[in-house]
Amino acid sequence: MAHSLELSAAALGPVTAEESHILEKLDLERLPRHIAVIMDGNGRWAQKRHLPRVAGHRAGTQSARTTIETCARLKVEALTLYAFSVENWRRPKAEIEFLMQLLREYLRKEMPLIQRNNIRMRFLGRPDELPDGVRKDTREAMEATAGNTGMVLSIALNYGGRAEIVDAMNAILAERNGHGGAAVTEEQLSRHLYTANLPDPDLLIRTSGEMRVSNFLLWQIAYAEIFVTETLWPDFNRARLLEALVDFQGRERRYGGIDAPKTAAR
Ligand code: IPE
Ligand code: IPE
Ligand code: MG
Repeated sequence: MAHSLELSAAALGPVTAEESHILEKLDLERLPRHIAVIMDGNGRWAQKRHLPRVAGHRAGTQSARTTIETCARLKVEALTLYAFSVENWRRPKAEIEFLMQLLREYLRKEMPLIQRNNIRMRFLGRPDELPDGVRKDTREAMEATAGNTGMVLSIALNYGGRAEIVDAMNAILAERNGHGGAAVTEEQLSRHLYTANLPDPDLLIRTSGEMRVSNFLLWQIAYAEIFVTETLWPDFNRARLLEALVDFQGRERRYGGIDAPKTAAR
């Protein structure tokens, strides 16, 4: 334990008393390789404060920053954040426009942090339906970070889990060019998903208490440990993230077998 505390202090910089207490329970050698997050509850956070919903989205960017930086410093291999679903187009036009603008602003503002932490960026989803400016900025962010070798940060944007599986199947059919071929395998399908080359998430976090997956990474979360917290996304800070990691380490992952070789680990 003393060993992991030393490691954490170095990696995370100054920690609060609350964080230090949680860190005592965390084994930094057994963190999830891939963490996926459904960042939910921005609207409710704002409503509670009698603010417009978009104020919640703005406040939520701070939680994204903290989560990204903490995961990168802890040497998590992959972090995937659900930013906009294919179903979110059902929202009022003004809220959608705000979200798209906020994302562009965010990418510009956070690029130094992304580069400083050696993070490689990806975007998961259908780019074609996004506004031109957003597509341009996401392309630039990917190009600017393509040479980085640290954590892979994926932003799910205009993302749908079913759409992803359909897109993968169509990509496989296109490769075959009408020539039939052998039966599709799980490995082949995985390779054609937006998440190709990423390990499946070990831990899926959802904020704001909703017990559903809302079309997120349907294929990839087959054996993810799910952590749902009542905390609303803008209130999700470093202590809450560390708590989720401690909870993950207490899980017994059996993968359909009967005796767990060990508790949740890489
Ligand atoms: C999550 O917060 C952000 C997005 C879906 C873009 P919500 O906007 O869904 O907030 P609630 O769920 O209405 O509180
Ligand atoms: C899921 O949240 C999508 C994102 C976080 C981007 P929603 O707020 O859209 O999900 P539902 O509608 O509550 O299922
Ligand atoms: Mg929501």
